[in-house]
Amino acid sequence: MGNLRLLTGVRPSGQAHLGNYFAAFEPAVSMQEKYDLYLFLADFHSINTVQDPRELHEYSIRLASLLLACGIDTTRSCLYCQSMVPEVCELSWILGCITSYGNITRAHSFKDAKAHGVDLNMGVVNYPILMAADILIMDSDVVPVGKDQKQHLEIARDLAIRFNTKFGETFRVPEPLISESLGVIPGTDGEKMSKSKNNVIPLFGTDKEWKKAVMSIQTDSLGLEDKKDPSKCNVFNLYKLFATSDEQEVMKQKYLAGGYGYGHAKLELLEKIKEKFSSMRDKYFDYLKREDDVVDILKEGAKKVRVVAGQKIYQVKQKMGFLL
Ligand code: ADP
Ligand code: TRP
Repeated sequence: MGNLRLLTGVRPSGQAHLGNYFAAFEPAVSMQEKYDLYLFLADFHSINTVQDPRELHEYSIRLASLLLACGIDTTRSCLYCQSMVPEVCELSWILGCITSYGNITRAHSFKDAKAHGVDLNMGVVNYPILMAADILIMDSDVVPVGKDQKQHLEIARDLAIRFNTKFGETFRVPEPLISESLGVIPGTDGEKMSKSKNNVIPLFGTDKEWKKAVMSIQTDSLGLEDKKDPSKCNVFNLYKLFATSDEQEVMKQKYLAGGYGYGHAKLELLEKIKEKFSSMRDKYFDYLKREDDVVDILKEGAKKVRVVAGQKIYQVKQKMGFLL
């Protein structure tokens, strides 16, 4: 029996950030020895917001370079673009036909988009269905995502079960892999860190960009001498991502004792970021200089994925009565 399949996607829709790394990239990379890893750029998911060709191109090449720099080993794992696997769209249409509109409009992503006045194009409406197609077409066993994607995973599971019940056993029902302790990583404004908001700490920024982002983390207005509550502080919450439990305890005590300012904590956080990401960042800049090689890697990955996806879509159509 082969390994279990682990699949996850990330949208090339802006600057990748610490939230993406800790929720998705790091778990994926660390599990590639035990699982068959499928990692893709969810570029069809991007275009419900990114509709400038230069931007889409730039974000895509940057994200692929970044994933390679994070340690995706393409001799054993597949890295590809969603748009290079047209079978995904075919399945998305099919799944859309067994999805009720009411269910989709009750999804958080739809409600959020509506609440934030985002252009409600059909891409926004179909977003969870396309995501289910990404997952189900590869018979994925495990899907590591951040907590914000929990409901989308439930929709994918429901669709797999619904299809299997209606047309016979076809799809594996995927398991989400969500780190509850990680939770939703806050951005510099305390809201969810997100590419589409101006609140990220970039994964691979220049030293200057990192410093600017860290220094802009919002805190309360307590003075240097005041005792502070670490649990309510974004700087501390971000520091926890990098620090050992002993290091966390040391910083916690400094907060509680007073005489330790948010500026001090920010500098400690900045050091941690540099320590962890500097060497990966160098690799990232190297890949950026080799755009053609990066695109070739994506195409190679897609070629392998299409073999599996093609078989699955054939099976789906066969079960549904399409002429083949
Ligand atoms: P973004 O929300 O920044 O556009 P994506 O939608 O491309 O990022 O998400 C890629 C992965 O990163 C997903 O698994 C998502 O759950 C995770 N993720 C994104 N932002 C955060 C965050 N602030 N905290 C935890 N996980 C996150
Ligand atoms: N919707 C995910 C996000 O916004 C990205 C994504 C698209 C994805 N397709 C996926 C994640 C399939 C996991 C599996 O973060």
